Order: sequence, then C-alpha cells, then structure tokens
Amino acid sequence: MFLRRVTLHQLKIFLSLARHLNMTRAAEELHMTPAALSIQIKQLSGTVGAPLHEQIGKRLFLTEAGRLVYAGALDVFDRLERLSADLAADQGLERGNLKLSIITTAQYFAPHFLGAFCKRHPGIEATLEIANRDQLIERLKQNLDDLYIMGQAPEQLSVIAQPFMENPLVLIAPADHPLALERDIAPERLADESFIMREPGSGTRLAAERFFEKHGVQVKVRMTLGSNEAVKQAVVGGLGLAVLSGHTLTLDAASGAFAVLDVHGFPLRRQWYVIYPSTKRLSPVAQAFLHYITEEGASRSLSPVH
Ligand code: PGA
Repeated sequence: MFLRRVTLHQLKIFLSLARHLNMTRAAEELHMTPAALSIQIKQLSGTVGAPLHEQIGKRLFLTEAGRLVYAGALDVFDRLERLSADLAADQGLERGNLKLSIITTAQYFAPHFLGAFCKRHPGIEATLEIANRDQLIERLKQNLDDLYIMGQAPEQLSVIAQPFMENPLVLIAPADHPLALERDIAPERLADESFIMREPGSGTRLAAERFFEKHGVQVKVRMTLGSNEAVKQAVVGGLGLAVLSGHTLTLDAASGAFAVLDVHGFPLRRQWYVIYPSTKRLSPVAQAFLHYITEEGASRSLSPVH
C-alpha cells in the first residue's frame, strides 16, 4: 500500500537514472539539476523502504530493490502507453459508433452514404433511425444521436445546419394526365387540380404550400398521406397530382407510371442539411461522417427528373 505514494514523476526520473547509471546525465536528460534529481530518488527510495542504487568507486549500480522498481516502472509506463493507444483508437476511426437520425424522405439516399462510409471504416458500428420531424426534434433535444439529416433546421433550437446536397421537389402526375405533354405550364393552371399532400409538418408539404401561396393558387387537397410511397401510389392510381422530393423517384422514375410536370418554378430548390446541437462536441467518427457526406453530397446533387 505504501507504494501508492510513489509518483509517476519519481518513476520517470528513476528510469532515466537506471538507464544512464549516472546522476549528471540523467539530470541533463530531464532538464533538472542533479540535486533536484537526487532528492526525488531519495524520496522514492524512502517510500520503497530500501536503497535503489549504490556507488562502488565511481560507478553506480542498481540494488536488487532498484532492479525490481526498474522492472515495475517499465510495466507502469508500458501500460500507460497501451492505455493511450486504446483511447486514441476509441476516439479515432478504427472503432467507434455513429448514431444517425434522419427524416423519412432521407431514407432514399442516407443509407447509401452511410453504407459507403462504413465500407471505408469497417470498425465503425452505425445505427440509423428514421423518424418524422417532431420525433427528430425530440431526439435532438434529448441529445440522443450524433447527427441528424433534415430538409429544414428546427427554428426553435440552437443548431448547426450544414447543407450538403440539393433536394429538388418535383410535381408529379399520372402518366396519362393532359398536362404531361405540355411545357412551361403556368402555376395558375394547377388551380383546378386535385392534390395528394404529405402530412402536416412534412418539409415537402410546407414547401409545396409556400409555392401555391406565392402564386395565389388554391389547390384542391384530395387526400393527405403520411408517406412518400403512399403518395406515389395514389398519384399512379389517378387520384391527383403531388409534390415530392426528386429523391423519392430515383428508383421508379423510368417505370413510366407517372410524369414529372414542367410547371414554371419547378423543381422547387431545397437543400438537405446535416444538423447537430450548436454546443455539441462531435466525436471524431461523427466529424468524419459530416466531412464525408458534405463532400459526397456536393458531387451527387440530383438533377431533377423530367
Ligand atoms: P419530409 O422531408 O419532412 O417531407 O419527409 C424532409 C424535408 O423536406 O424537410
């Protein structure tokens, strides 16, 4: 128990002395005076309860206790070395976790980014939560994740919102809709059309409503649906037109089941953002993902489907 009083400083000095077997050289290496070094060694020896070195003629030798302390000190520093390597690895990209929460519409592209990132860093374990806007804001408030992907930063919270990719919103109609063949359609002509809208609170819905308001167009809302896939099915089924993120169409744009209308003002230009609380200290993994998605997103910005 008495060894608890031993300090790392003393052990470090003793290691130097044991290596050089010379007070002056050890003191030089440690940038201290031989007198100060000698005091530390005496204290260490006092704590151990035995002399650690002896002088025979001009030469200095370690005693048996000195050799034991030397081996023990090497172990201690070796352990500290391994501890700092473990911590570095934990904080680095070789291991670690990434918790990402995304808004529903981001599920069309976020898994691709995450998959490619994890391939580059196989030691990272990632979790992806898909939620609606209210749920995401709640998670953000509770600091449950590293990063969030949304189409619009929550106004009521202090966050960093880094745009990383375009989010063009397009207007789709059933393929056989009369407007499908027209070009540069005036927004006013939408006034008589029925629309399938996303649920209140959806960023897509909000952007569509702003567009109609700006052009003084009162559309008929035929149906409100809480998922992009359901909205697409309703459009294909002939129930009305809809405004959707172009990202939701990437897999079935070529199917010919619906048409993207060439309405003046479309595609609506929006952005995708990576968001996190402004006071949050991002882990190295989260920082690396943020960097990755910002670089990749810029090169992948989607061209609107026509
Ligand atoms: P969504 O899309 O809320 O319509 O799912 C995200 C956004 O555009 O903000």
